[in-house]
Order: sequence, then C-alpha cells, then structure tokens
Amino acid sequence: MLETRTRFGSNSGQPATRRDGIAKVTGVANFAADNRPDDLLHAVYVPATIARGRVTHLDIAAAKSHPGVVEVFTPENRPPLAGDPEAKPFLFTFRTDALQNSDVRYANQPIALVLAETIEAATEGARLLVPQYEDQAPRIGLDGATPYKVEAGNFGRPGETIFGDVAAGHAAAKLSVDLTYETPAQYHNPMETHALVAAWDGDLLTLDIPSQAIVMSRAAFGYYFDIPPENVTIRSPYLGGGFGSKAIIHGPALLAILAARTLRRPVKLMLRRDQMFGPVGHRGATRQRLRIGIGDDGRMTVLDHESLATTSTFDDFVEGAAAASLGLYAAGALRSSQYAVRVDIGTPGPMRAPGEASGSAALECAIDEMAEKACLDPLDFRLRNYAEVEPGTGLPYSSKALRECYRQGAERFGWAGRPRAPRQMIHENGMLVGWGMGTALFHAPMFAAEARATLRPDGTGLVETAAADMGQGAWTALAQIAADSLGLPLEKIEFRSGTSDLPDGGIAGGSGHTATAGSALHAAGVDAIRQLGEIATADPASPLFGANAGVVARGGRLYARDDDSRSESYGEIIARAGGTTIRGTGNASRPPEAAQRHAMYSHGAVFAEVKIDPELFQMRVTRLVGAFAAGRIINPRLAESQLMGGMIWGISFALHEEARHDHRTGRIVNADFAGYHIPVNADVSGLEVITVHEDDPHVNPLGIKGVGEIGVTGTVGAIGNAIWHATGTRVRRFPIKIEDLLAGL
Ligand code: MOS
Repeated sequence: MLETRTRFGSNSGQPATRRDGIAKVTGVANFAADNRPDDLLHAVYVPATIARGRVTHLDIAAAKSHPGVVEVFTPENRPPLAGDPEAKPFLFTFRTDALQNSDVRYANQPIALVLAETIEAATEGARLLVPQYEDQAPRIGLDGATPYKVEAGNFGRPGETIFGDVAAGHAAAKLSVDLTYETPAQYHNPMETHALVAAWDGDLLTLDIPSQAIVMSRAAFGYYFDIPPENVTIRSPYLGGGFGSKAIIHGPALLAILAARTLRRPVKLMLRRDQMFGPVGHRGATRQRLRIGIGDDGRMTVLDHESLATTSTFDDFVEGAAAASLGLYAAGALRSSQYAVRVDIGTPGPMRAPGEASGSAALECAIDEMAEKACLDPLDFRLRNYAEVEPGTGLPYSSKALRECYRQGAERFGWAGRPRAPRQMIHENGMLVGWGMGTALFHAPMFAAEARATLRPDGTGLVETAAADMGQGAWTALAQIAADSLGLPLEKIEFRSGTSDLPDGGIAGGSGHTATAGSALHAAGVDAIRQLGEIATADPASPLFGANAGVVARGGRLYARDDDSRSESYGEIIARAGGTTIRGTGNASRPPEAAQRHAMYSHGAVFAEVKIDPELFQMRVTRLVGAFAAGRIINPRLAESQLMGGMIWGISFALHEEARHDHRTGRIVNADFAGYHIPVNADVSGLEVITVHEDDPHVNPLGIKGVGEIGVTGTVGAIGNAIWHATGTRVRRFPIKIEDLLAGL
C-alpha cells in the first residue's frame, strides 16, 4: 500500500481565532431560540412551588380564557408518550418529569405546560393556573434522610474502590488527619438556558436544540416518540454553554415536543433562569471525610476518602467526589467510598468535572493539612507522594509531566519564597497575603466518532462530523486538525458540523471531544489523501507517477516523499481523473486493550495567591498560576482559554457559587443571578496558564487529551489553602465566606 503522510503543525498548534467569533459577537449566529418558524406556538412550563407532595388543583379555566392561550397540558389531559419518562433506556437518559402524574418530587418540577400565540400570553396563562397542593415536609440537605452506600456509581463505575489493606495503612500511620469538608449544590447556568424549537412533519421531527450529544440523542427522542432515530433531525450549530446539562434530555423538552405533535404547530420553549434550578440537572452537595496517614518518611500509608452526596428520590446520579483520590497519590492503601442521601431535589447530573471538582477541593485541602501537620512544605509533600504508576492498578501512566507542572508552576508563581507558617505575609496596604497550591488531575477519555473528508476539484476540502461547539472552540480546533490531515490551509476547509444528518461526532463531554472527533477527522483526511495519492502515482501523466516511496500532502499539493521536485496540485490530479470529488471516511475510538496497558490522565498544578482584608475579611484571589500537561495542544489560544475557564470555575467554587435551599419549603432561595453568585471580571485577576509540553503516544495517535475540565481541579484547594495561609483559619466548607473567617477569629 502506498504510504501517504500529512504534516501536523501547519494549522494544528497555531493560535487560530474562533471561526464562529464574528458571527457570535455580531449576533448573526443563530441559537436554538432564535428560530421563528411560521405558525409558532410558545410554551411556558409551570414550576412546582413545593418540593414534595401532589398538585390538587389548577385553575385551567382561568388560564384558557386568557387571550392567546391555546392549550394547557396537565397530567389529566397530557397526550400519551410512547416511551416511559420513568425509564432509563440509554446511557445518558435519566428519569424525568413529563406530567406522568400529579406527584411533586422537587421544587421547580414541571406541573403543567401552557401553549399560547405569544410568550407573554403563555407566561400569563401559566400564572393564572394558581396551583394548589397537598404538601409534605420536604427532605432537604445532606442530613435530610438516611444515607445509603452507593453500589454502582455513574456511567458504570463502582461506588467503592479499595486497594491494599486500609486498616493496616491506618495502623501504620505515625501522623494522621481526619477531616470533613462540605461542598455545595451548584446548578449549571450556561448563558443560554435550555431551549428548543420543535416542528413535526408527519412522523419526521426537527429540533433546533442545543445538544452536546447530537447524533446519539436521536435514539432517545425516537424512543419517547416511537419513531426511528433517523426520523429525528437535530440542529445544534451553536450552544451558549452546556457544562454537561445539554448532553441529557429533560422533561420540559419532551413536553414541548409532545405539544408540537398534538397541536400540529411548531413549539418553542426556553427556560427562564429560575427554571434552570430543578429539572435540568445540577451538581449535588457533598460532605467528604478524608483520613490520611503518613509514616516517618512523610509518605502516605493510607488515603481514605469517603463522600456523601445528595441525590433525588427517584434516580441515581451521585456526585462521585471520592473517586478524585484514585489516580493521583501513591498511598500504601487507598479507599474511595461513595454514600448518598435521597432528598426532595431534581436529579443531579454531570457538571463540569463531575466528581473530580468536589473531590479535588476536599482532597487538596486535606493534603495541605496533612503536610502542615508533618511540618512539610505543601509542594515538597506532594513531590514525595504523587504516584509514579497508577495507584492500585500499578499501570504506568500513558504519559506524565506532573513533576514538570509542579516545577514550572512553582517557578512562575515564585513559590520558593513562601514561609511555611500562616499569617506571615502582610502586604504594604495591610492586606493579609496567603499562598496555596493544589494538584490537578482529570482522566483522558475517548468516545467513538465518525467523519467524512472530501477533496473537491477546485482544491478545497469539505469535512463533516456532527461535533458540538458549546463555546469551547470545537468548530475551530477540529477544523485545524482536518486541515492538516488534508494538507490544506484552514481557509480552504469548509467544516460542516452541528447537525444530526452528518457522521456521528460523538459527545462533547468528559473533555474527550477534540481527542475523539479530531481523531475521526484525521482518519478521514488521511483516507482521502491516500486515495488521491493512489490516483496520482498510477497515472503516467502525473509527475508523481511511480512515486512508490510514498507521497506527502502539504499546501494543497502532493509531493513525492523522496523527491521534493516532483509534485502536483490536488486540483490537477482530480481534473485528470475526471473531475469527481474524492471522499475519505474515518472513525475513531480507543481500542479497549489500550486501557489495560496504560492509565490515561491529564495532570497539572495550580498555585494561588489571596489577599484578605484583616478586619472585613473580604477575600480576593490576586494571582492564579496553573501549569497543565494535556498532551498535544491543537490551538493554544483556545486551550488556554478553556483551562482559564476551568480555573475561574475554581474561583467560583471556592468563593462564590452555592444554591441554597429553604429547608421548610425545599425551594432554592437564590435561583437567579442576583443571589447565585459567579465570578465577574472584577473577581478574576492575575490568571496565568502554562501548557507544559507533553507527547503522549498512547492516548490516541495524535496525542490529544482534554482541557475542558481539569482547570477546575486543583484550583479550589489551592485557594482554600491560600486562605488558611493568609489567616491561619481552616474553613472546611465551600464556598468560603467572610463569616467563616470571622468565626475563626
Ligand atoms: Mo461535561 S460534565 O463532561 O459536559
């Protein structure tokens, strides 16, 4: 077989700006809710204002008599759904609420759907329903019910993992800590709330809906509406963020699609901000106990991480915080155990670094407290204890530049001058200054994807895969990979993406999208170039005729591998071959046996500086340096932006973000951006990202890992540890608040 090569680096590795940037900032980009088909009906769902009980009355007559209201669906008249909303037929389907009965199992659950000619009429109709309830006292919070031990974790992972003899590890410890941390419930709040426009044509369903799983989710829609997956067309060219929540199908969407089918008109539904707090997933609250023991040599004899998390009364997703302790530190014995408590909340779901974010927050603070007890610098302690092979499995890491992350991050930050004791650094303006650090870790998964690459007679390329750009820049980074694989400059590439009629680009989740869809695009490009090379080398009229040493593709030309003076443009080769396009196909997934040979992770180290007012205890993160090794960086601008975004989420986790329930009603009292705090520009300064060079030949042939989620890990602990270093107060509950520091006085 002819050997064909493409060169990486002409496009990949370059800091290309977002291909969709201008469209987005000028308002040209069409998001789901921007679609306005003729004859459109607007839907508004009515959220329950109790958390437990049942609906006893709705004033349907009042709502229906309001001008413009067309229909009101309640459990009494809701048309049948073919698929059971209580079933879990696929990996990413959750039990959901689609008016299957009058029960209320969490606040903000849909209890009715109002359809009207205008959004205003639908909103007013919804208000006029004035629900009445038979309510029961809600069970809320980590102490709201009796915990149970989690047998099966999320996505097939075990609830508990034990390596080594934990009791012996505890017994062997010369020094130990036993600490409990709490992390709050957090709700996905992408800029674009969940939205869709549903339109039926007979048994054909077209959905304008932001989706992180464009092709895959067709099967679930097909299940609920009893149509073949091919009958579902999903258009998701732009997402205004997702964070995990848009990979999953939720009740309000099912109701809007059902209404469109029943009323034979297109229906639009866009959740209000407050409606994001309930039916569309969230990160459950956790309480984590960490017991760490060390021997005389400062090395861990045991790392014992137990986590309790809130979940719903009717489904099983549990924030897997304890699993954060599995891949990082080489303890003599290791235990990671999950417990959960069923309370009256919507079911949690995957949310940016699900498990790792909460788990890393507690782990990295506990590591710091252990180091302090042993009178060791926190960096020295980590350098003594980080694992050389994966703890428990003993597998070598596919690549590991963690030591280099520690070194480069510490050097850039200036860690070496740090006094070990707290309250030693006072800024000239009187602020207490503290420095802290944390290790970052996230697994490097791959899913399955397919792609097509077409070379056209005019020398341009068309590449196609149903990838999802939820703001992370997939549309740009993936096009860069495709361009290199076809040996073309980026501007000669047309990249079709974001619709379900294209080859399956896999899910945009788990920080695996670039690795997965990118590998498929690469394979498709290589296939097209191979075909082109075979045509040219077999054609006596081509300068490449008989170039049996192989060909190299670059800049829209094929070159003989052993003789650069022999070359021909793609257009010439295609023209002589009759002018038809050449179509390559490719797919990608990781061979299962690869995971038996190597442990695959991205690594990093985060260093934080805080300045704290000594009287008011107002806290500011003034510097944050993160050094990350995440394999081949396809686009440094976008990758740094992703890592930075993760670190900002870390600031949010450490200091701002928290959903608070009223324990009497079970309602979230801060379900809006006035009360649900996230960092704004004024909260973020001195952020620096270092991408540490790493060649990882094992994760996939291109060496791509993920950058979307790892930035959250390490950062929360680094900030918590810096706050202790500034004040001498250990706060073990996130977000850390002024009153926590006042209490430590
Ligand atoms: Mo993410 S929580 O894998 O979208």
